[in-house]
Amino acid sequence: MILRVENLSVSYYMEYGKIEAVKNVTFDLEKGEILSIIGESGSGKSTLAKAILRAIRYPGKIEEGSKIFFNGTDILSMKESDFKREILWKRISYVPQSSQNSLNNTMRVIDHFYDTAVSHGVNDKEEVKRTAKELLKMVRLDPDRVGKAYPFQLSGGMKQRVIIALSLLLNPELIIMDEAVSSLDVATQRYILEIIKDINKKTGVSIIFITHDISIAAFISSRIIVMYAGEIMEEGKTEEVIKNPLHPYTAGLINSVPSINSNVSQIKPIKEGYASIEGCPFNNRCEKAMEICKLSEPPIYNVNNRKVRCFLYGDNKA
Ligand SMILES: Nc1ncnc2c1ncn2[C@@H]1O[C@H](COP(=O)(O)OP(=O)(O)O)[C@@H](O)[C@H]1O
Ligand code: SF4
Ligand SMILES: [Mg+2]
Repeated sequence: MILRVENLSVSYYMEYGKIEAVKNVTFDLEKGEILSIIGESGSGKSTLAKAILRAIRYPGKIEEGSKIFFNGTDILSMKESDFKREILWKRISYVPQSSQNSLNNTMRVIDHFYDTAVSHGVNDKEEVKRTAKELLKMVRLDPDRVGKAYPFQLSGGMKQRVIIALSLLLNPELIIMDEAVSSLDVATQRYILEIIKDINKKTGVSIIFITHDISIAAFISSRIIVMYAGEIMEEGKTEEVIKNPLHPYTAGLINSVPSINSNVSQIKPIKEGYASIEGCPFNNRCEKAMEICKLSEPPIYNVNNRKVRCFLYGDNKA
């Protein structure tokens, strides 16, 4: 196991009240695994990613009792300077949401590699250049041509591949990719997802792949965690979750996507609405809601080695 997130809660303390963006989230990540975290916008995915990167800033706060173990060490109890020096980018790197805009248009692509290396204490320019070229090749870019180019000369898909190459520069054990292909057209998405799978196979790097698109999660990952309103609703092997979703929200996500729903006549969007603050957060949108769903919040039940937070599985209480 490379990562264990335990009882992670993150809130944003706003003037008008507290937003509980991540609530009591617990999960493991195995070495070499690609795990998808999926959920609609606002479900807490980026906040979860930022917590693992220790990048939660005011008014956000990681609540007491939260633990994040990376190779057995609780990184939340490390001194921030130690975390930045020893872990960030070198062992855990990331591809942030809307990352294409994070490239500097006045700097050549290769200089982004030097910059990243230097800011993490690696100063051997020749070595960085060699590695950068290898990595650009790995993401199927021409290392010489693209290395010399400025970001504005590249397409969105090329920029995204540069960012992925950059995230690999210091040979991390874990990469957190937040909506890494979301802004791209479907053909480019597929191409980049293939590249990411390939990198995972070749290097053995573990990946947390965050997306709002369940068809992308189905394609890239071996396991899926479904989040809603900051909480885990369902977790299981990708094949099983897609073939037989247990949670009504997961079923809704699958039924609203044409590419993984073979029966086009059954495509049906989920009823619109906000997360309910009482009872099951999904109760006001759920077709299967029962009386109890409005009154109390369901715990997580274990069902055949899968986890689901829904009263429909109440007899299987863990
Ligand atoms: N910096 C912030 N300040 C205040 N609220 C925030 C901040 N970042 C996220 N939130 C809130 O936290 C919740 C989860 O957001 P986020 O983690 O970005 O979700 P996702 O990535 O799934 O779209 C949302 O209600 C969002 O408005
Ligand atoms: S607990 Fe109730 S409202 Fe929530 S998903 Fe299950 S059936 Fe629907
Ligand atoms: Mg996000």
